[in-house]
Amino acid sequence: MATRPRQKSPSSGWTTSSWRTRPAAQQPEWPDAAALKDAEAALAGLPPLVIASEARRLTQELAAVARGEAFLLQAGDCAESFHEFSADSIRDKLKVILQMAVTLTYAAGVPVVKVGRIAGQFAKPRTSPIERHDGVELEAFRGHMVNDEAFDQDARRPDATRLVAAYHQAAATLNLLRAFTKGGFAALSHVHQWNQEFVASSSEGRRYERIAKEIDRALRFMAACGIGLQDEEGLRETDFWTSHEALILPYEEALTRRDSLTGDWVACSGHLLWVGERTRHLDGAHVEFLSGVINPLGVKLSATASPQEVVALCERLDPARTPGRLTLITRMGAGNVGRSLPALIEAVRAAGHPVVWACDPMHGNTFTSDNGHKTRRFDDIVGELREWFAVHRALGSWPGGLHVELTGDNVTECLGGAEAIGEGDLGQRYTTTCDPRLNARQSLDLAFDVAELLRG
Ligand code: PEP
Ligand code: CO
Repeated sequence: MATRPRQKSPSSGWTTSSWRTRPAAQQPEWPDAAALKDAEAALAGLPPLVIASEARRLTQELAAVARGEAFLLQAGDCAESFHEFSADSIRDKLKVILQMAVTLTYAAGVPVVKVGRIAGQFAKPRTSPIERHDGVELEAFRGHMVNDEAFDQDARRPDATRLVAAYHQAAATLNLLRAFTKGGFAALSHVHQWNQEFVASSSEGRRYERIAKEIDRALRFMAACGIGLQDEEGLRETDFWTSHEALILPYEEALTRRDSLTGDWVACSGHLLWVGERTRHLDGAHVEFLSGVINPLGVKLSATASPQEVVALCERLDPARTPGRLTLITRMGAGNVGRSLPALIEAVRAAGHPVVWACDPMHGNTFTSDNGHKTRRFDDIVGELREWFAVHRALGSWPGGLHVELTGDNVTECLGGAEAIGEGDLGQRYTTTCDPRLNARQSLDLAFDVAELLRG
């Protein structure tokens, strides 16, 4: 890894700062320009969080997803929090994602590529730049990389030192994730045992007894054949990748480095970066920035995205049509998928882009409950997935991935699921700093539902 970028990339007018000549949506107005410059300089001098070879390896794994030979599970917080940061919460989130992955691996019969919304997911796009309560107007909360959610003027003022704090929290998080996934915690035998506990301890879990028993039988079969579950590297360790929305561009620019071996530019803030529904403007700063880095990229697409627009984004972000480079994450809302998705799949296919198709069944299904909580219904989440699988089956394209917001904590943020959380329960443990997340049991429940959908 070499030093600070600024030179031109060989093939275009792209530089790490060329985004600055384009309109950049969803950026805070940093009140202290000198503090922002200091933060950028500090970040530019810090070690990268991820390296080029990792970004390439994840692209290879996603290429297998694009070919229909693997499945993507991308999951984690809506917004990571500076306050709720502990080893336990990282462990519990990882645990749920690993549990979901085992179920999906068995059902799909293909490897599951595990990507966390973690170690960098600290910034949020907002529908309105202003929040109003009882006649008081303040700047919206934009994630802990920018400001704090407390409703007072000081807390809401964008503070550039948070960019550096976010980097350090991301580094500590990634360090623990690497230790857990390479140090035995992620061993298949453990994960399977956690799933069995889920099946035994909940009434909903019992629905999945059959699949859990089949996995159990498969593991016994492997052991009988002399495959030691503790000895095989592939059963004892796993790869776990990081991702976040590349929203706050000064942070991303300062962590972009040139690979000294190839000259490629790599966004070293995370393995996979995505562009959100609100910032994916073709001529905007976010698309410009992402077009020049070699990381695998995600693009969020709502039901209003047009086929022309989506093909143009594919062309702009992946002109070379590299399998694994692009993951199109649709978040259309239950009831909209059958109408909006087929034309996108057909247009992208006709244009020859080898994309991964993933479904985010969360962001199109958000509403505010009567008692004022932003929430989502478990049934709408499953409903959108059902529609999404049906469209892919009908068009013969591979339903490649699931993108969800979840936590390992026992929160009450989404309605329904195994414990039938009702509107009156939402206030009990509603701790998200942004969107409502599935709790651990709802997440496992969803994984078993998706397992059934994968099996057709
Ligand atoms: C998100 O993933 O948290 C998000 C804001 O998504 P979208 O851009 O799809 O609205
Ligand atoms: Co969200």
